[in-house]
Amino acid sequence: MFSKRFKQLTPYTPGEQPQNRKYIKLNTNENPFPPSPMVEEYLKRVDSDILKLYPDPSSEKLKNAIGKYYNLPSTMIFVGNGSDEVLSFCFYAFFDEDRGFLLFPEHTYSFYPVYCGFYDIPFKRIPLEKDFSISINSYISEDDYSGVIFPNPNAPTGTYLESSEIERLMEKVHSNRVVIVDEAYIDFGGQSAVELVTKFDNLLIVQTFSKSRSLAGLRVGYAMGSEILISALNTVKNSFNSYPLGTIVQNAAKISIEDVNYFNMNRTRIIETRKFTVNVLKTMGWDILPSQANFVFIRKNNIPGLEIYEKLKDKGILVRYFGHRGIEDFVRVTIGEKKDMIVFLELLKAIQGN
Ligand SMILES: Cc1ncc(COP(=O)(O)O)c(C=O)c1O
Repeated sequence: MFSKRFKQLTPYTPGEQPQNRKYIKLNTNENPFPPSPMVEEYLKRVDSDILKLYPDPSSEKLKNAIGKYYNLPSTMIFVGNGSDEVLSFCFYAFFDEDRGFLLFPEHTYSFYPVYCGFYDIPFKRIPLEKDFSISINSYISEDDYSGVIFPNPNAPTGTYLESSEIERLMEKVHSNRVVIVDEAYIDFGGQSAVELVTKFDNLLIVQTFSKSRSLAGLRVGYAMGSEILISALNTVKNSFNSYPLGTIVQNAAKISIEDVNYFNMNRTRIIETRKFTVNVLKTMGWDILPSQANFVFIRKNNIPGLEIYEKLKDKGILVRYFGHRGIEDFVRVTIGEKKDMIVFLELLKAIQGN
């Protein structure tokens, strides 16, 4: 009944979204604050008549708004149904078994190997440094590869690379190999490398409305890069689904990116709560990787990561445990509202005390 392709699939496992019990959700890097009030205003006054027609297939108004924010023409922007879809199109367009290995960090976003399985792309995991950071030198020293992808900040570690390091990589990478920097978490303290896309035609920056703009449920992601790369993504999209973003989605995302004041306030609150959380964890003797993301990756001597995860879950707090070799002691904790982080820290103290 099923195709050979289908039988080989290994799907991605997203973080839990339990419907049965009310948890404090610190497991999927969602933003605890609502989206821009202007988005709420818009949704209240939506005229359902607009749904009679198909949406603009190229999301031109939304791309113009993103372009205005980043000072890029809309021809250098591609939008899709969440950055997961944008990434999937990138994997399809730029990598395959004939072009060599796709390189990505040993510990990173676990969707990357899933796309590789889906599209039959050979990949190589590049080890992290002892301190769990990404070293550009480890990529530069590779020669047989089709491209590179990593999140910046990396997930689930939270560690961040300066743009100058990305530029150093780009100067070494051959111009027919594509480098993708997945900036899902860039707005929480990092500096986007987007300025480099006008210098390097083979660099693609991918971002999302899901985290810093509190719109995970809307499903909007985008890529920024040279017209050559963007046009390739349009070809993939138009061979798959011409209308990945609905009219309401396009309008709401446009309104969101135009509300710069709210965006800045929103991300500042998260950064401050992260600082508060990190300081308390330090006084409690936890090992915390330096994070520029809306989550922290933490461990404690003598308490297995799985135990921390299970005990917190039992008490109504969800965090993310990966259990992969090399990071099995860690749990990843999303930065939520300060009041929730206080509850989390208190529970952690109790777990430690046992
Ligand atoms: C590194 C990274 N990239 C991309 C995504 C996908 O985000 P979305 O599809 O919601 O835009 C995530 C989601 O958690 C992520 O952690």
